[in-house]
Amino acid sequence: MTETLIRGRLLSFRRAPEHAADSESYLYEGDGAVLVRDGLIAAIGNYADVREKAAVDATEIDHRPHLILPGLIDCHVHFPQMQVIASYAANLLEWLNTYTFPEECRFVESAHAQRIATHFFDEFLRNGTTTAVAYCSVHKASADAFFAESLKRGTLMIGGKVMMDRNAPQGLLDTPQLGYDETRAVIEDWHGKGRNHVAITPRFAITSTPEQMAMTQRLAEEFPDLHIQTHLSENHDEIRYTCELFPDAIDYTDIYARYGLLRKKALFGHAIHLSEREADAMADSGAVAVHCPTSNLFLGSGLFSLKAIQRREKPVTVAVATDIGGGSSYSMLKTMDEAYKIQQLLGERLNPLESFYHMTLGNAVALDLAGRIGTLDPGTDADLVILNAAATPAMRLRMETITSLSEELFLLQTLGDDRSVVETYVAGKASKPEAAA
Ligand code: GUN
Ligand code: ZN
Repeated sequence: MTETLIRGRLLSFRRAPEHAADSESYLYEGDGAVLVRDGLIAAIGNYADVREKAAVDATEIDHRPHLILPGLIDCHVHFPQMQVIASYAANLLEWLNTYTFPEECRFVESAHAQRIATHFFDEFLRNGTTTAVAYCSVHKASADAFFAESLKRGTLMIGGKVMMDRNAPQGLLDTPQLGYDETRAVIEDWHGKGRNHVAITPRFAITSTPEQMAMTQRLAEEFPDLHIQTHLSENHDEIRYTCELFPDAIDYTDIYARYGLLRKKALFGHAIHLSEREADAMADSGAVAVHCPTSNLFLGSGLFSLKAIQRREKPVTVAVATDIGGGSSYSMLKTMDEAYKIQQLLGERLNPLESFYHMTLGNAVALDLAGRIGTLDPGTDADLVILNAAATPAMRLRMETITSLSEELFLLQTLGDDRSVVETYVAGKASKPEAAA
């Protein structure tokens, strides 16, 4: 039995913080340790107590004075868009048609998909993200490459072969039948293999005919426990066009509802411009709105009402994500930095405890995976990130004046990025790639 004792300052949330000084919402241990046994967290707590529970020959790794948190979670990314980031476009639809669709056509080639998969996992683990919910391309080969790399790394990843059968280049189209058959094949090949989860993935209503939407409904009924992911209400032109394509629906959200896609574990990227009716429908169904702040700013899509949507009489569950490659950073720290600024523009406060809750337990709850990831609770998977709030000269200087955990977290979020990630553990194994990799 291999045991590892990882020493440092522990931070793990118990529930969503209710205010900026809500110290009951998290566990903090100034001289703490995590005992890892067979990829799981066996014990946590004060170093001396945990040391007593460890085998005498346990490997000990000392990360003091750094923070030990659960691995970060990113609830919406596009694996085939690593070479789309930083594309200069006026808006979502221009960006999709000019850069994104042509780039995704290249994923018909397994060799290309495999090369990008290697980079994708390197970049996420370098940024301390141990779980991501990813769109692959329409090609089954892209999903095969993604999940094979995940199996190799031992990560808990959620991914899906995109289904799309109209309004895109020929090289990116499947058919209702092919989309159904290949999604089933991806589920059979990969779901439950290692720590992989497959998500049913219609790209968005613009790129699926009513016939394909009906097939996604069939998949959703046949696999009621699987995640579903798609896009919703990101951009005003997109919303207008979508509603023209489905004239019988009351609004954009109603299109997905009509095809049985509005449910728990269904993740709707962006959801920026929802009406009250749509927000009610989301809340009633338990569906999740996935906030992608760097993308929303980069593409000029709009300001998501993160705080207001959670304060409603019927709150909508919110997850947070990078949305690579519409998003402009792989870092969940930078992502929450931009989320904070969006709330500032809306006259709202997003406190650092909330930000770190969202990146960890909040996203795990949204994914219905809180029993496995998102905390340091014993019995859960030992996915960890070690964060250094004094990683750069500028951070070190600012750290001199910092007197509380909240201030330290806020500094990490505001100036931190992959340089603040000292190490990333996947199922207890040190997995941060070298900077040059
Ligand atoms: N809507 C449909 N596809 C996409 C995509 O790839 N990125 C973003 N940001 N929005 C989308
Ligand atoms: Zn997206």
